[in-house]
Amino acid sequence: MKFTDSPVIDLQVLNSQLSFHQDNGSMHVGTSVWPCSLVLVKFAERWHPQTCAVTPNPYSDILNFQNKRGIELGAGCGVAAMGLFLLGLNNVVITDIAPVMPALKHNLKKNKPVLNKSLKTAQLNWSNQDQIKSLNPPLDVVVATDVVYLEETVGPLLSTMEALLGENGVVLLGYQLRSPEAHKKFWELSGDMFDIEKVPHEHLHPEYAYEETDVYIFRKKKKQ
Ligand SMILES: C[S@@+](CC[C@H](N)C(=O)[O-])C[C@H]1O[C@@H](n2cnc3c(N)ncnc32)[C@H](O)[C@@H]1O
Repeated sequence: MKFTDSPVIDLQVLNSQLSFHQDNGSMHVGTSVWPCSLVLVKFAERWHPQTCAVTPNPYSDILNFQNKRGIELGAGCGVAAMGLFLLGLNNVVITDIAPVMPALKHNLKKNKPVLNKSLKTAQLNWSNQDQIKSLNPPLDVVVATDVVYLEETVGPLLSTMEALLGENGVVLLGYQLRSPEAHKKFWELSGDMFDIEKVPHEHLHPEYAYEETDVYIFRKKKKQ
């Protein structure tokens, strides 16, 4: 499911409005905005430690991005990274494969007046070990939304997450079932590599809580 056919998608984050161009007609899925990205950003906005009035806030540590280094994998138009940037993830690198970079860069440029900064981008194919190393892990926050849809990329995706994530870091994952084969493999393998917390649906932003879309928090399993 593409989020909508509209060529422009707006997303309010705190007092700022991001706006994205998408091209649903291209041969690359990354030129579309996918719904999990919006769901993840609005979840993080809802529990943002600086503005959330709920105490105790169960997400105050993971959503306190101060002094943390982050990365988005398979970013597409870059919705999740730009949204989290506005929530304090100032040091973030936005990555995807080469053919998607023009759409990503176009959207970064479009949002530069709101972001007030040029965010860093890098090409990253999950099968490319040199590209993974060049990102100087370990990182504190690995962001990924709607990236589990091809069975053959599940292994490389999880290995990339593991290679980039610091011992005390978190993966913030926006997830929707896209392919039964990829789904089965992803949840079999990820359970061996990470401790997995599923955000209860009632903790999502009420206007961005689609029945089929979930947010997960992965942490590295502690070595025995
Ligand atoms: C369904 S799109 C989601 C895009 C964006 N995260 C969103 O939620 O709008 C999947 C993304 O994963 C990227 N991707 C697929 N295989 C990849 C690989 N092997 N290495 C890096 N990125 C990959 C695609 O280029 C695409 O941008």
